Amino acid sequence: MEILVTGCAGFIGSHLTKKLLQDGHQVIGVDSLSDYYDVSLKKDRLKQLVHPQFIFVQNDVSNEQQMKKLFEDHAFDRVIHLAAQAGVRYSIDHPESYIQANILGYFTLLECCRHHHIAHFLYASSSSVYGGNKHYPFSEEDHVDHPMSLYAATKKSNELFAHSYSSLYKLPTTGLRFFTVYGPWGRPDMALFKFAKNILNNQSIDVYNYGEMLRDFTYVEDIVEGITRLMDQIPQENEAWYEEGCHTSESFAPYRVVNIGRNQPVKLLDFIETLEKELGKKAEKNFMPLQKGDVPNTFSNTENLQKLVGFIPETSIEEGIHQFVQWYKEYYQIEEALYEQH
Ligand SMILES: NC(=O)c1ccc[n+]([C@@H]2O[C@H](COP(=O)([O-])OP(=O)(O)OC[C@H]3O[C@@H](n4cnc5c(N)ncnc54)[C@H](O)[C@@H]3O)[C@@H](O)[C@H]2O)c1
Repeated sequence: MEILVTGCAGFIGSHLTKKLLQDGHQVIGVDSLSDYYDVSLKKDRLKQLVHPQFIFVQNDVSNEQQMKKLFEDHAFDRVIHLAAQAGVRYSIDHPESYIQANILGYFTLLECCRHHHIAHFLYASSSSVYGGNKHYPFSEEDHVDHPMSLYAATKKSNELFAHSYSSLYKLPTTGLRFFTVYGPWGRPDMALFKFAKNILNNQSIDVYNYGEMLRDFTYVEDIVEGITRLMDQIPQENEAWYEEGCHTSESFAPYRVVNIGRNQPVKLLDFIETLEKELGKKAEKNFMPLQKGDVPNTFSNTENLQKLVGFIPETSIEEGIHQFVQWYKEYYQIEEALYEQH
């Protein structure tokens, strides 16, 4: 298939693109290479993707003219939209970036997909849509009307926009609610990356909510497996939706939202301990209260994912952290001996 992946230079997008190429697809990747974090890391991810079946286009998804041209030049079989302004904490001080990328950019994609009758539009939502929900594990049937950050509100809006397009224009859409993704080539603004960096540099780490929060950390390869399996589960119109109980994860329209998480939340302090063991080094911890915008726990119900594609993420935290540390040390050329001497 010919597949458009937006955010292809990002953490999840680069892993996904690699897998799609391995599976024999042709991938057109779009990314603006935004400077939210180290652009050279994004460029290095792209270097891993050099392949005769891959074309990279540097473009902002909110640039309507350029996106229209791209859709005119290609006949995409699938569109997987991952480009976004990510991060909960950054949204507190930089709300405008989220409106530009996550609302305007998302709208541009929807419009292109409807005019070109795309067979399946999949897009990144987030576990953050569960916001103030305390009904664990988070099910797609739970209410998601109480976002704790603008980031979460944009992701929830994406789901609502998707439903309106699924309903009005019969555009099949799948919203992917990812739960705290981690692994090699990860994001420098996320906990694992910051912890590893600081521990290796003998700097203290900030541990929010005094380490008591639970996160359903999900390994990036599992996320990618979930996406590629869902790609061919195209939601259909369903007249019987009302009689079947009006499940909020689906609709009368060709619409679906699905959790991709591991269903095994880990306490932040235990996650740090696993990292310490892997690095062979203790962290100096700076205990802090829960940050504004953050939720105390995330915990994914994976029944829907299992039912749809017969798969749930299973990579253990030990294995995932091991893979991350191996990559981190190699990428930043950290010699064992160098940090062991501290
Ligand atoms: N990593 C996680 O734990 C997680 C959890 C839930 C949801 N998500 C969502 O998954 C998606 C991918 O996340 P990620 O962790 O790979 O983040 P990332 O920041 O590494 O990747 C996003 C990519 O999108 C690009 N981008 C940003 N704005 C753009 C724009 N306007 N036009 C074109 N490209 C643009 C960035 O340059 C970046 O390379 C995002 O939508 C994010 O909100 C991620």
